[in-house]
Amino acid sequence: MGGPPAGAVVTDSNPYGELLLLSGSGNPELSERIAREIGVKLAECEITRFADGEFDVKIRESVRGHDVFLVQPTCHPVSDNLIELFIILDALRRASASRITAVIPYYGYQRKEKKTQARDPISAKLMANIIELAGANRVICVDLHAEAIQGFFDIPVDALIATKILARRVRERHGHDVVVVSPDTGGVHRARNLARILDAPIAVIDKRRPRDDTVEVVNVIGDVEGAVCVIVDDLISTGGTLINAAVALLASGAKSVDVVATHGVLSDGAVARLHAAPIDEICITDTIPYHNGSHSFDDAPKLRILSVAPLIAEAIVRVHEGRSVSELFR
Ligand code: R5P
Repeated sequence: MGGPPAGAVVTDSNPYGELLLLSGSGNPELSERIAREIGVKLAECEITRFADGEFDVKIRESVRGHDVFLVQPTCHPVSDNLIELFIILDALRRASASRITAVIPYYGYQRKEKKTQARDPISAKLMANIIELAGANRVICVDLHAEAIQGFFDIPVDALIATKILARRVRERHGHDVVVVSPDTGGVHRARNLARILDAPIAVIDKRRPRDDTVEVVNVIGDVEGAVCVIVDDLISTGGTLINAAVALLASGAKSVDVVATHGVLSDGAVARLHAAPIDEICITDTIPYHNGSHSFDDAPKLRILSVAPLIAEAIVRVHEGRSVSELFR
């Protein structure tokens, strides 16, 4: 975008107007945390349903001429959260917000980012098309499954990285004395980034997936004998990838296994499965609300949740002030 649209009211010295933070119902606790970090109040946005289940949105204050940041991860229930995101974006655009940034801490459908078989959809691209069409002028997200998803948008995307947050916890528990493990070849880049921060070696699991929801570990590449292994992944869904990786690492002589992952998708049964697995600690972030589903904290003494709110808040303030966000990636 080259500037605020004609007719937009500029309410402070910022060309896009005052910062206004809004939350969908995807993760209101995270939105509150972000608001506290920035030092603003969330704008009032009421989401209701018609009798037939369709959503309605009422934004209870003027957004005209404002620099609006809408926080809405498209996690479970994915379809509902997506539709909500589209409808709120539409409402904001029609209400003359001067710039709209969709803050999507967890980007649903991101694992379907390429065709792997004939007649496959590329759902991650379709979602990007609709988000733009609905009215987003920018996107802020965290740890995309594949960096190429940024290119699915023709608007600026700030794809934040939670690695430093996860690294802090690993260092707190083990210092630098770990082997960082990627649970598949696609995650090597992520493992390398964490290993660089920790100044640690890496290992890789050669994972094969015979069917969509099953995982078969084939080989451990690298020396894990006697090592404290920390597996790093972008997300945990069924837990199958990590559990298989942990078992393979221990079979290869690892001393212990911890897991750090950005997005706790945690599909049904995952928490119990992870709890029963030979993993000492599972560390995720709050991009997705933890109560989102059937699990509770009581089921998960091994689970630790770190907040990405300070990272997202900093990115929002920098985007609003037109300052560089790249420092956050270093
Ligand atoms: C796969 O490429 C991803 O990075 C994750 O490893 C995977 O999606 C996790 O899924 P699950 O927990 O169901 O194995």
